[in-house]
Amino acid sequence: MEVIIQPTPEEAADVAAQFVAGVLEKKPDAVLGLATGNTPLGLYRRLIAMKLDWKKVTTFNIDEYVGLAPDHPQSYRAFMWANLFRHVNIAKENVHIPDGNAKNIPEFCTEYEQRIKDAGGIDLQILGIGSNGHIGFNEPTSSLTSRTRIKTLTEQTRNDNARFFRNEAEVPLHVVTMGIGTIMEARQNLLLAFGSSKARAVAMAIEGSITSLNPASALQMHPDVKVCLDDAAAQDLQWKQYYQSTYQNKPDWQRF
Ligand code: F6R
Repeated sequence: MEVIIQPTPEEAADVAAQFVAGVLEKKPDAVLGLATGNTPLGLYRRLIAMKLDWKKVTTFNIDEYVGLAPDHPQSYRAFMWANLFRHVNIAKENVHIPDGNAKNIPEFCTEYEQRIKDAGGIDLQILGIGSNGHIGFNEPTSSLTSRTRIKTLTEQTRNDNARFFRNEAEVPLHVVTMGIGTIMEARQNLLLAFGSSKARAVAMAIEGSITSLNPASALQMHPDVKVCLDDAAAQDLQWKQYYQSTYQNKPDWQRF
């Protein structure tokens, strides 16, 4: 796991954007796993400004609410089109987002996993982290080998996400999310976290025990993970100085 700490979210998003751009330059038909929420917005803005070629890129979103109309402003489909897809030259047929309105959700989830396999697997999965350690919507106690499936949101996550809705009661109770097993099969993972509200979850994910009580801790078992943090999200890390000096002293050939 490579932990990159920058003073501000903007500088951390700069580093993340350089990295993602490098992946797309090396592999123009890369398969990206994408997340929504506040955290990746700065990254998406930077990728748009870089005017990269998305013509051959395929994307799979990590999760979606169950039961929101696809054009509901808080659906993750609407979010992705508003904040990324409509600003780049991606082919509509290469965009995959879980269907939270599928008639048969378990069947849809099996198909979604198959679509990822058929696309050759995910090259780079972009992740945010919940204040309770969730990745995707794999809430605490999710199986560390889980696959795409329906999940029930915790009270804490519904509370955290209520800021996007008129009130907490409007936040859907159920979601479709890739599983932790699905995320672990991505060739690379890039986890972003900004702000002190994420500090505890980040410290537990990077330096705590591997446990389903902090689903992001499963990433310790993945061979290729980058974590981009701002100072506030890194404040509870015991090995912060070590990560900082490792990044500063990184040989040029390892930079992206
Ligand atoms: C959303 C997702 C979630 C978020 C997490 C953090 O697609 O995968 O795991 O990344 O809830 O959300 P923000 O970034 O809004 O703090």
